Amino acid sequence: MNLSKKTAIVTGASSGIGKAFSQALVGKDVTVYGLARRMNKLQELKTELGERFIPVQMDITDFAAIEGWIDRTFNDNHLPDILINNAGLSTFGKVDELSVSEFHTMVKTNVNGVFYITRKVVPYMKNNPEVCHIINISSIAGLVGNPQLSGYNTTKFAVRGFSEALFKELRYDGIKVSCMYPGSIATEFFDTANAGGTHPNMMMPGDVASTLIHLLETPDNFLIDEVTMRPLNPKSPNDK
Ligand SMILES: NC(=O)c1ccc[n+]([C@@H]2O[C@H](COP(=O)([O-])OP(=O)(O)OC[C@H]3O[C@@H](n4cnc5c(N)ncnc54)[C@H](OP(=O)(O)O)[C@@H]3O)[C@@H](O)[C@H]2O)c1
Repeated sequence: MNLSKKTAIVTGASSGIGKAFSQALVGKDVTVYGLARRMNKLQELKTELGERFIPVQMDITDFAAIEGWIDRTFNDNHLPDILINNAGLSTFGKVDELSVSEFHTMVKTNVNGVFYITRKVVPYMKNNPEVCHIINISSIAGLVGNPQLSGYNTTKFAVRGFSEALFKELRYDGIKVSCMYPGSIATEFFDTANAGGTHPNMMMPGDVASTLIHLLETPDNFLIDEVTMRPLNPKSPNDK
């Protein structure tokens, strides 16, 4: 896809890799609708990026709000080309210590939210005569289970299955579907997950953003359906 003048929706644009995706896309002359709950963070990004970044306060677990916003925003003369399903979170913890509410929050955000917005965007993409692209952000935790990650693993394995089904379903409609499986990236994710801080051996948000741009810029006749990214050395420099 030639990205110039395209229109993208990025969920979770207020921090971390969603912010880096928005910066990289605007740098490629894409108009980005950046969705998240923290409007102040989105406004700061708008100040940095200018008119090509459009902040949208949205809780992606709220289907009615998503439905209303998509139908108010898009029409036959203004169609989305790109959807980046990035918003997500984790709570680390042993299965007998993870609360029901923490588990539900992960499922509602990482799984239901991805379905809700995809469900509403796909009909507009089907009307788009240009090739479109949906990129879902799973995780290494969508490929490999690990202790204290049972809830998060559940949701990211789900994103993998959703992505593969969608890829096979939508290819004949001219819609590419890719799934990214990054390892640890230095973002706020580790604070939200109560999983300790970040360290300098982790990947940086810009590393993941440049890979995302590479996926989007593939010629229209093929796609890269899955990408795994890992830090070369996953251990903190402080670990022996
Ligand atoms: N960091 C890693 O090591 C890593 C590795 C692999 C995959 N991932 C995945 O990458 C994605 C982005 O994470 P990140 O590392 O960039 O973490 P982050 O900095 O914590 O960003 C998470 C984003 O998701 C948004 N979000 C969370 N719940 C939301 C909701 N209900 N509605 C709308 N937006 C919501 C947050 O915005 P608000 O709080 O403003 O709503 C924020 O913008 C997640 O799906 C995560 O699972 C992260």
